[in-house]
Amino acid sequence: MNEQKFPPARILGIESSCDETAASVVDDGRMVLSNVVASQEEIHAKYGGVFPEVASRQHIKTVYTVVEEALAQAHVGLDDIDAIAVTRGPGLAGSLVVGLNMAKGMALGSGKPIVGVNHLEGHLYSAWIDPADSIDEQEAPPEFPVLALIVSGGHTELILIRDHLQYERLGGTLDDAAGEAFDKVARLLDIGYPGGPAVQLTANGGDINAFRFPRAMMKGTWDFSFSGVKTSVLTKVRELRAELGESENDEDVDLPLKDLAASFQQAVVDVLVNKTRSAAQEFQAKEIVVAGGVSANELLREKITVGAPGRVHIPPLKYCTDNAAMIAAAGYYRFIHGHVSDLAMDAMPTWPLTEI
Ligand code: KG4
Ligand code: ZN
Repeated sequence: MNEQKFPPARILGIESSCDETAASVVDDGRMVLSNVVASQEEIHAKYGGVFPEVASRQHIKTVYTVVEEALAQAHVGLDDIDAIAVTRGPGLAGSLVVGLNMAKGMALGSGKPIVGVNHLEGHLYSAWIDPADSIDEQEAPPEFPVLALIVSGGHTELILIRDHLQYERLGGTLDDAAGEAFDKVARLLDIGYPGGPAVQLTANGGDINAFRFPRAMMKGTWDFSFSGVKTSVLTKVRELRAELGESENDEDVDLPLKDLAASFQQAVVDVLVNKTRSAAQEFQAKEIVVAGGVSANELLREKITVGAPGRVHIPPLKYCTDNAAMIAAAGYYRFIHGHVSDLAMDAMPTWPLTEI
């Protein structure tokens, strides 16, 4: 075991980088006392994606209530909090500003320190949250060196973590993020929003070998590319429509949706699992962490775990998609290492993990 003993601290986390307004109270980076998430999913569904201005205005309406609720559910007041952690980026500028200003107001009013957190670092630290949700049965945290795969709507990154707060980016997507590919294919198949869960549901019972979609392994690099597989699904759909004698815009065409979704999902998961396993081996990582919205995918969760040489940490579903418990967890490790932010800090809509 290489887990050091760290001082106790209670952190209030606030997250508003995309379309979830979230707040959470977490003790010592691992014990979640409350985790409140107000999703805007239904609002954005009619646009088929996140509408930035609508998102920021919705955050304005919800943020106060969400923070109050997180404190109430944790049975604590602001006086009981040691620091306020807030997502500073990457994300939508207008959305980030809302959470940041809420956190700044609270810090100013209470005199508590504020810690700006990178959203991707938050996703990584979701693997440090104790999945047992119980003080008596704490599971040991990931052991360094850790090989982490972040797969979300905006990012697909392979990161080597040698110790707390020390990241080495090995590679990432050159075009679409894995979640983006799921979202685009779902739109193409017209099976619902958000795309990831819709593809997973449709793929259930489908034939993974019905269509052979490309697996871009990007040999010799740790990068990914998912635009090829997405285009390949589009080409196949056009072909099938032509065979069925339907026009491209015909909504009633009887496409083999289950087989298309299953074959696509399998192709993406094959690449993610293969590259993550190889990187873990190459860099002699002790354990693997998979985080971000796409880590909610059942096939990925199963395939990456089966036969893995060390432990594979994949957060429970509620900590995979955007939440504030992960921001509080990352904020804790920043805070105890002396990283306190200035009240004048700006939002960072593009902010690589390695430039923190
Ligand atoms: O981390 P997240 O909540 O937000 C970002 O930071 O992007 O990730 C959202 C992404 C979306 O692209 C969504 O389609 C995908 O995660 N996702 C999934 C699943 N659940 C969510 N992708 C595949 N399978 C799922 N079950
Ligand atoms: Zn995210």
